[in-house]
Amino acid sequence: MKKNKLIISILVLISLNLFLYADGFMELNRKAADLRAEGKYKETAEMYENHIAENGPDALSYYSAACAWALEGNKDTAFKDLSLSIDNGMLELGWIKTDEDFETLRDDKRFEGIIVQLENKITELENNLPEKHNEKIIIELPKPRFESDISLEETLHKRRSIRNYSDDPLTMEEVSQILWAAYGLTKPYPGGPAFLRGGLKTAPSAGARYPLEIYLVAGNVTELSAGIYKYKAEDHSIVKISDGDVRKKLAKAALEQSWIQEAPASLVYSAVYSRTTDIYGDRGRERYVCMDLGHSAENVYLQAVALDMGTVAIGAFSDIKVKLLINMTREEEPIYIMSLGKLE
Ligand SMILES: Cc1cc2nc3c(=O)[nH]c(=O)nc-3n(C[C@H](O)[C@H](O)[C@H](O)COP(=O)(O)O)c2cc1C
Repeated sequence: MKKNKLIISILVLISLNLFLYADGFMELNRKAADLRAEGKYKETAEMYENHIAENGPDALSYYSAACAWALEGNKDTAFKDLSLSIDNGMLELGWIKTDEDFETLRDDKRFEGIIVQLENKITELENNLPEKHNEKIIIELPKPRFESDISLEETLHKRRSIRNYSDDPLTMEEVSQILWAAYGLTKPYPGGPAFLRGGLKTAPSAGARYPLEIYLVAGNVTELSAGIYKYKAEDHSIVKISDGDVRKKLAKAALEQSWIQEAPASLVYSAVYSRTTDIYGDRGRERYVCMDLGHSAENVYLQAVALDMGTVAIGAFSDIKVKLLINMTREEEPIYIMSLGKLE
């Protein structure tokens, strides 16, 4: 989906919840969308360029300005802003290739040049990703509990997408419980086939292929240093991938959705599609992997309610940026982020 539609769809989703996120960039996009709808492309482009002049360069603003200049028919400025967008970190090859706003640029050989330049840049970045993660630092998680003071019906009744959290850190018990709910073992199968990766889990999976991987992006979790960790269901542990608080960068990769930065932690889901497509072909890619993801994510929503926590499923982000930030293995593709925090 191209950028403007993506941002507008987030705004629609959020306004459905009657929240007002008059956050700077969101507000800019809201106003720009109104101007675009009236056909005022030059004014739209200038609005983004003013934003850049006041706040410094950023890839999304240059990209949006390029879209508006292309619609205005000002090809030279459109190409200039599109190049500046790439220089400032725009990696969305799919957007550029398919964006209807760039119809007027497609026949120009500068367009092909930009595509090739970006393809080469992305290939180089992806080649630096690991084929496998080394598992030097493994942290055992507290045992999950299987009982609760709240009924399943009440968790269903109370479930909501929550984007505001208290400043309290999450505990290791809470993180452990959430990860277990997401993809923890419920029927261990020691010595079972490799694809089971430890056994049957809390979420159903087509053919028990378990295509999902889950990362914990921790910023404020007691007794856990800020960093990126990968969940290992087979022994209910997490493996350290990298040190440091990347919440702000993750929010940026998710089109500035600020709740990701403010949440003490987030889950980032990826999928290794081939685990499912090897058996089910296209049906696996088009249907089963996302169905698997939905089962796991709903578990997280309901478990969060039972822990007096909030979460929101986030599908709007730059795939390549999230993949690079997390340092996923080459075969993984990011598919969901779920920010997590205690209720305010
Ligand atoms: C596939 C999918 C993608 C979503 N993407 C986002 C997102 O990028 N940002 C966000 O804030 N909410 C996102 N949501 C949450 C929806 O906005 C939310 O579920 C919807 O408004 C209904 O509210 P409820 O979950 O409280 O019932 C997404 C939900 C789904 C199922």
